[in-house]
Amino acid sequence: MDKIIIRGGKRLKGALPVSGAKNAALTLLPCALLTDEPLTLRNLPRLADIDAFQHLMNQFGVSTTIAGSRPGDFGRVMTLEATRITSPVAPYELVRKMRASILVLGPMLARMGEATVSLPGGCAIGNRPIDLHLKALEALGAVIELTAGYVRAIAPDGGLPGGRYSFPVVSVGATENALMAAATARGRTTLHNAAREPEIVDLCNLLAAMGAVIEGIGTSDLTIHGVPRLHGATYRVMSDRIEAGSYACAAAITGGEVLLKNAVIEEMEATVQALRDAGVHVEPQAGGIHVAADGPLRAVTLATAPYPGFPTDMQAQLMALLCRAEGASVLTETIFENRYMHVPELNRMGAHIETRGRTAVVHGVPQLTGAEVMATDLRASMSLVIAGLAAEGESQVHRLYHLDRGYERLEEKLALLGADVERVGAD
Ligand code: UD1
Repeated sequence: MDKIIIRGGKRLKGALPVSGAKNAALTLLPCALLTDEPLTLRNLPRLADIDAFQHLMNQFGVSTTIAGSRPGDFGRVMTLEATRITSPVAPYELVRKMRASILVLGPMLARMGEATVSLPGGCAIGNRPIDLHLKALEALGAVIELTAGYVRAIAPDGGLPGGRYSFPVVSVGATENALMAAATARGRTTLHNAAREPEIVDLCNLLAAMGAVIEGIGTSDLTIHGVPRLHGATYRVMSDRIEAGSYACAAAITGGEVLLKNAVIEEMEATVQALRDAGVHVEPQAGGIHVAADGPLRAVTLATAPYPGFPTDMQAQLMALLCRAEGASVLTETIFENRYMHVPELNRMGAHIETRGRTAVVHGVPQLTGAEVMATDLRASMSLVIAGLAAEGESQVHRLYHLDRGYERLEEKLALLGADVERVGAD
């Protein structure tokens, strides 16, 4: 298994292209199931999760072609064509590798009148149930059966009537499934307390480009007027606000200065506010966001929350940055119950972090030291890379496959900024 070696202490400086958003791409790809015409997605990041999703779509009989992938390019263009769907089943071998597979449930049900998806099971950052996905689809008229580790959804009269659902807690994935299922329902659907993450807005915009009629885009009350059919479209995936925030933390911990090209400040206000509270300068600049850190870092207190709150996907990376702040920061994780797996690893690098339940107290230290570390999820792995960039000496971050799931060409991007990083195959 590959690992990344980081020799810390280099000040990051330069311009960095922010890739297309993984979490948006993984909900835009299944929209290809909703039409028999081609769907072309531009600015797709080159990531293991995208390859896995492509594989899943092929399994259904969807053809996929990729263009614009010269060596050295960031991003790709993929055209998906679901002229005929040969199987409505998402099997265990594919779903277990990628939780986002559950996002085929709604669009497959809408297109075929039935869908069968393996239950994704637990995952490293908590239980992550899918009950809300199923309840929302039931509210739209689906009949749900659970058998032998699979969920089977059926539209009794060949199509969904549509309906009303109020989410008891905000769920990004369940909102996405409900939106895709509702787009071609016979009647009107209203979703209340829906997630309003920028990735949901991206999904709504793609569905609208395919002919869907959605009111309330960007709010937590969505009304979807079902249309008989959707058509093909060409669409550009939004920029990755989590990747941008991660590199902002990486630059800041080294006292560096970077331009995050293509990053959209309006989509990451909570992250920008947290960085500013920590003493980092963050300003919009033509074509991106400028980040600079020149003074001491300050402690911050915040809790993760659904958008527009501070994203759970940025918690680990911000924590790494705050390891070097003056004073004690207090972070509370409200979305997932088990998302502090980076804490013992950061402590092995000389950090001083205490956790109690969902709260972590980060006592700033004057220096971090390099170590061999590994993490069990994507964002936790990135937090170790961030710490390694500022640490004295050499760090080795193992299990690089987590980072390959979500950070396009991490080591190349860090090298663009002057970091001393090297990817090596483990012996
Ligand atoms: C979540 C994050 C998203 C992040 C992604 C990957 C939120 C609101 N969502 O999205 O920003 O990009 O992880 O890290 O921050 N839940 C249920 N039943 C369900 C679905 C969810 O109880 O059927 C609960 C979850 O356990 C969690 C909360 O609802 O506590 C939010 O989960 P959800 O938004 O659905 O998770 P993701 O879509 O994976």
